[in-house]
Amino acid sequence: MSDMIDKNGKLNKLSCLRERLTAAPVLAIRLSGNCMTFASSTSRPFGETIAVPAPAAQANILWFIPTHGDGCYLATTEGARDVSLPYLTQIAQAADNLGYYGVLLPTGRSCEDSWIVASALAPLTRRLRYLVAIRPGLMTPTVAARMSATLDRISGGRLLINVVTGGDPVELKGEGVFLDHAERYAVTDEFLTIWRRLLQGENLTWQGQHLAVEDGRVLYPPVQKPYPPLYFGGSSPAGIEVAAEHVDHYLTWGEPPAQVGEKLQVAAAAAARKGRRLKFGIRLHVIVRETNEEAWAAADRLISRVDDATIALAQKTYARMDSEGQRRMSALHGGRRDQLEVAPNLWAGVGLVRGGAGTALVGDPETVAARMKEYMALGIESFILSGYPHLEEAYRFAELVFPLLPLANTTGRGQREIRNEGPFGEMIANDVPPAERARAQS
Ligand SMILES: Cc1cc2nc3c(=O)[nH]c(=O)nc-3n(C[C@H](O)[C@H](O)[C@H](O)COP(=O)(O)O)c2cc1C
Repeated sequence: MSDMIDKNGKLNKLSCLRERLTAAPVLAIRLSGNCMTFASSTSRPFGETIAVPAPAAQANILWFIPTHGDGCYLATTEGARDVSLPYLTQIAQAADNLGYYGVLLPTGRSCEDSWIVASALAPLTRRLRYLVAIRPGLMTPTVAARMSATLDRISGGRLLINVVTGGDPVELKGEGVFLDHAERYAVTDEFLTIWRRLLQGENLTWQGQHLAVEDGRVLYPPVQKPYPPLYFGGSSPAGIEVAAEHVDHYLTWGEPPAQVGEKLQVAAAAAARKGRRLKFGIRLHVIVRETNEEAWAAADRLISRVDDATIALAQKTYARMDSEGQRRMSALHGGRRDQLEVAPNLWAGVGLVRGGAGTALVGDPETVAARMKEYMALGIESFILSGYPHLEEAYRFAELVFPLLPLANTTGRGQREIRNEGPFGEMIANDVPPAERARAQS
């Protein structure tokens, strides 16, 4: 204790900390389905709460609707598909029939609009859920809440929401958003506060630093309660704080298991500090073949048309972004072709020329299933997968790998019936549901 007081009689904080590091136990919280259990350890700094997500016992598998292009090879028109509504319908119906939990629709200026495509596909499928992005800053939270409720209603409760704050300032300026990274997340925080309260039925008057509403309302409530599930995929500290406060599912792109494990612990701890618990998901490509050799040959083939100039162009674009998630993805390969297996069976070749999700699990069905189970052991329960071309690979993955995974009963054979609960009758003066009027009169 003596070196904690310096020669001027002041408390030496560093020494205090050192003492605490060696002496005091840490509280580790293991987050499981419905409860938190506690364990102690002496390996971490005093007072730090480490939340360790419980292993996922079962997995939900989602597929991907390639609204920014599809084909047999990356970065070429050779073998490219006409990504028309009939083709996207084929993919959605395949995913529906094969029993995928849902599909992710990407968002941004490189994509067809995800809300419009999801609205077109939903009536053509029966059980498939649609993970569609809301982008705080691009629309008001009230409009986004109304769109969410409507798509949830007309799809019979099949809407999932992906909260995308955005990580490319150049693209965002093109959309009319001139805020920096921190301001964008401040907007996201306010946006989700309003969006959630409106969808829970509040008549809301609210004033924030960036956003305000006066007597905001959603008159047609969503089918899912309290609102369609919120997914979120930012990796920065600001993003993780917003996720911890608001969302249900925290998503990561497909980093190696060690990095994913650390990130999930940080997110789980941030949520635990707010008395909340997150579920976890991962976004990966898959290249599955009957043998490992065939799978690696398919990976090589996928980037066989990619030249160095195209890789350099992509690296330059990634470098202008302020997305921490993109930085972590790009760092896996650094633009080099020669070190692409960044963890066993995890291949970063896709990321050489594709923004966002840039890694693929490569191998035979048993190997890929085993690698997925490694992520499940870290707490991952949702897998959002894709493969090129997306129609054939949706079949291949489901046929070869579904039987090897502990699937939740919502993947493979989901069956639900959700009915509309009103309001019924035409709105009075664009404002009052008839049932509310009837109640007021009685
Ligand atoms: C699974 C997943 C899907 C995402 N989808 C999109 C997308 O469709 N469009 C987009 O612009 N950003 C997308 N993102 C990016 C993030 O939502 C986020 O805006 C970006 O990474 C910047 O946040 P960060 O700096 O906190 O990482 C996605 C991220 C993940 C993990």
